[in-house]
This record gives sequence, C-alpha cells and structure tokens, in this order.
Amino acid sequence: MEPIILGIETSCDETSVALLKGKHEILSDIIISQIDIHKIFGGVVPEVASRKHIDFLYKITKEVFQKANIKYDDIDAIAVTYGPGLVGSLLMGLNFAKSLSFSLNKPLIGVNHLMGHIYANFLAFKDLKPPFIVLLVSGGHTMIIHAKDYMDFEIIGKTRDDAAGEAFDKVSKMMNTGYPGGPVIDRLAKMGKNIYKFPKPLYNNGYDFSFSGLKTSVLYFLKEHSQANIEDIACSFQESLIDTLVHKVVKYSNDSGVKKVVIAGGVAANSLLRSKFDGIKNINIYYPNLKYCTDNAAMIARAGYEKFIRNQFSDLNLDAIPNLGL
Ligand code: KG4
Ligand code: ZN
Repeated sequence: MEPIILGIETSCDETSVALLKGKHEILSDIIISQIDIHKIFGGVVPEVASRKHIDFLYKITKEVFQKANIKYDDIDAIAVTYGPGLVGSLLMGLNFAKSLSFSLNKPLIGVNHLMGHIYANFLAFKDLKPPFIVLLVSGGHTMIIHAKDYMDFEIIGKTRDDAAGEAFDKVSKMMNTGYPGGPVIDRLAKMGKNIYKFPKPLYNNGYDFSFSGLKTSVLYFLKEHSQANIEDIACSFQESLIDTLVHKVVKYSNDSGVKKVVIAGGVAANSLLRSKFDGIKNINIYYPNLKYCTDNAAMIARAGYEKFIRNQFSDLNLDAIPNLGL
C-alpha cells in the first residue's frame, strides 16, 4: 500500500496543506498566499503572517481531506516544515502538525524547507533523476544546489545578504512601483534600455551571491538622477542581477559537467532569466510549474515521503529552526 502523507507548510507567507499518496499522486492541495495582505506594508510582516497561518490552517486542512474524500485516520504520517523560515510562522505549522500527530497517533516528520524545494522537482518532472543542479531563487532564497543523489545535496553557492527576489522587491519599493517587485520590474524592463552600468557583485568570484550593493547603487542612482527614466533603471538593474545568476549557474555546470539545471522559486518566472537560459545550447533547463516552485505543502509531503520510507521520524519536541541549513 502506498503511504498517504499530510504535508504542512507555513515557513513564510504561504499557508499550505496537501495530501500526497506515494511518490507522485497529489490527492488534494491548497495554497493560500497572503500576498494581498502584506502588499499594503510593502513586504512580509512576520507577526501578521503568523496570525494569518492560525486563521487558515484548520480551515484548509479540513478542506483537503474533504476534497480527497479520505478520513483523518487514513493518513500514514504528517510532514511539516521546521526550518528555515520566519520563526513565528514556522511555529504555527509545527504546533498544528504536532497536535494532529498526537491526537491521531500518526508519526511526525520534520522537513527541511530547502529539501522540500528540491523534491518539488520530482513532483514536477516524474522522470527527473539526480544528478542535477537547482537554482533556487525566490523572495527568501538564492542558492545553487548540486543534487548528487536522492538524499545527497550540496549547497554550491548562496547569497551573503539579500535574496534575488528580495532585491527586486526592495528596488521596486525605492522606485514606488509596488509589491511584489519582481513582476513589476520585469514588465517595466521590457519597455526600457540597459544603459546604466550597475555593479555585478562577486561576478567572477566563486559561486556566492551578494545583491545588497547592487540594490544600494540603485538607491544612490535614484537620489542623484531623479529625472531618469524608470524603465531604463528597471532594465539595467534586472540585467545586472539576472546576468549574475545565469553566469554562475553556467560556470558551475561547466565546472561540474552536470548538464541538467532546474530553475525554481518565484524569480524563475522572470522573462530575462528564461530568455538567457534558453539561449544556452549545451544545458537542459527545467522550469517546474510555478505552483510547485513557489512555497507549497505538496513538496513538503514529497520530501516527507522520502524520510517516511527510510523511517526517519521526528519527536514531538521538534523545535523550529529559523536558520536551518541543508
Ligand atoms: O517563491 P516565491 O513565490 O515566494 C517566496 O519567496 O516566499 O517568490 C516570490 C519572489 C518575490 O520576491 C517576487 O518579487 C519574485 O519572486 N518574482 C519575480 C518575478 N515574479 C516573482 N522576480 C523577478 N521577475 C519576476 N517575473
Ligand atoms: Zn521557499
């Protein structure tokens, strides 16, 4: 019998619950984005995010069971994100999962959110096999990961400060063009020209990223050139950031000889990033459906499955770890 795993994800501002049967069959899943709530504040407000998770969790859990037409007792385990993420948000999902585990007498599986993002690719591409490279680029993460085997991942590079999506969001905030900034800047950039030379931090220096200097240079530029065309600024900023991402991934692919690259996270929607990668001939690029590459509980259930079949269960005193690494 294929196990049924309930996945719960609340690491940031998406509340999500999913029921996964075996490796691939998503019986039902719900993702509630809080974007419209945080939009008003120009970014995610941690306390608001935690309170909204409480609001949504019980309701959507009931709903996924109804949609899948199964009983609470039919599940085999509960997989929940315990880090990295916002501590208040993590604790909401974690405590909810622990209560279910305790009352239903089903095992708890703590899942690393980053592992979830990697396993999302196995949901999206059923035939994908390691080794492959993952570029994980979202509002919270910027990482190049080498997936060597099903349980063997190495972080090759990560951001030392702002995440790529965060840089998009902050630059958009500086230009007063709205939140989330990625889609706005992507759209503005199409109408602009790449005429300003913003820095490309750490471009030829290893695989780590650093985007705060780039962001600050846009800030100074805006102060000194209040009349400059906003589309040109968007286009030039986007070019510096995206070119840096693509350059480092291609370099690692060449250095490691791994030719399969999966691009995950909200920034994977960026049109310049897509066109740059599509222009590279000797690399096979995979773009998971956005539903599975942004934060979701199906990926947590999928990673949970991998731990379930290895009997890797967690105690009920499992704590949230905001800065958990891979
Ligand atoms: O993975 P995601 O949906 O969620 C979290 O990080 O929680 O990523 C959201 C991020 C935001 O920073 C948003 O500005 C960025 O992805 N984003 C984009 C684009 N669409 C979304 N960045 C660049 N270009 C886009 N088209
Ligand atoms: Zn995430």
